[in-house]
Amino acid sequence: MRDRLEVARELLGRSRHTAVFSGAGLSAESGVSTFRDPAPDALWSRFDPTELASVEGFSVNPQRVIEWYNWRRARLAGVQPNAAHRALANQPGLIQITQNVDSLLEQAGVAAERVLHLHGSIQRDRCHNPSCGHAEPVDFAAPQPLRACPRCGDYLRPAVVWFGEPLPRQTWLRAEDLCRNLDCLLVVGTSATVYPAAGLIELARAHGSRIVVVDPAAGAAGAQADIHLDAAAGEVLPALIAGLDLRSPG
Ligand code: APR
Repeated sequence: MRDRLEVARELLGRSRHTAVFSGAGLSAESGVSTFRDPAPDALWSRFDPTELASVEGFSVNPQRVIEWYNWRRARLAGVQPNAAHRALANQPGLIQITQNVDSLLEQAGVAAERVLHLHGSIQRDRCHNPSCGHAEPVDFAAPQPLRACPRCGDYLRPAVVWFGEPLPRQTWLRAEDLCRNLDCLLVVGTSATVYPAAGLIELARAHGSRIVVVDPAAGAAGAQADIHLDAAAGEVLPALIAGLDLRSPG
């Protein structure tokens, strides 16, 4: 591992244009469940995503969906960033492309405008009617029951991207553009199985970027890596990027 860490550090040190692409594994050491891990608390081994994270599931039983997200929000209340979030926050020149709906990168000190949330945010609710536009912050300590939108009367639901829903357009276009202009993409804690987000790794490679992966498991991301550091992000990232001056283009 030490040698691969050194080689990865050299590669990142030479990279003029770098970005980070992260998933649930980045927040795992903060006690936030991942989705597909072989871990007992992985969400999709305990719950059915078609019931809880799809438009169809919401239309069949909106109460159940809201209760599940309130359960997730209650578990997120009080969760703190871990050493991996903090190491990334110490690189203010970087742009963070994340699939995570938590705000642990921002809590660690990353400027909000430098975090591209591809799958939305669990910190807010929005109107389910796509043409309404109403959105409001939620207090994890005071979860709200299923309720109507004050503007149009449709249901309010978490401002996250459910399976089959489009990603936020401008955020996606920025992420794509970024991945076409990199020397190195640092991939942290994603199974790289959910598209279109997972396609960013292939896009970056196709445009000449090197790929450094940090993940205890190889998985689809590891298979595309120039260097795969098979350990936990909180253990590796501080040593991997401390003291480097990593910058994203633009
Ligand atoms: N450090 C680094 N990686 C870790 C750690 C850790 N401490 N713990 C687990 N991992 C890795 C796992 O090995 C796995 O490869 O994190 C990855 C988590 O994969 P998933 O659970 O599939 O999460 P993610 O890739 O973010 O899922 C993508 O799927 O369910 C949807 O919208 C949801 O954004 C999510 C998307």
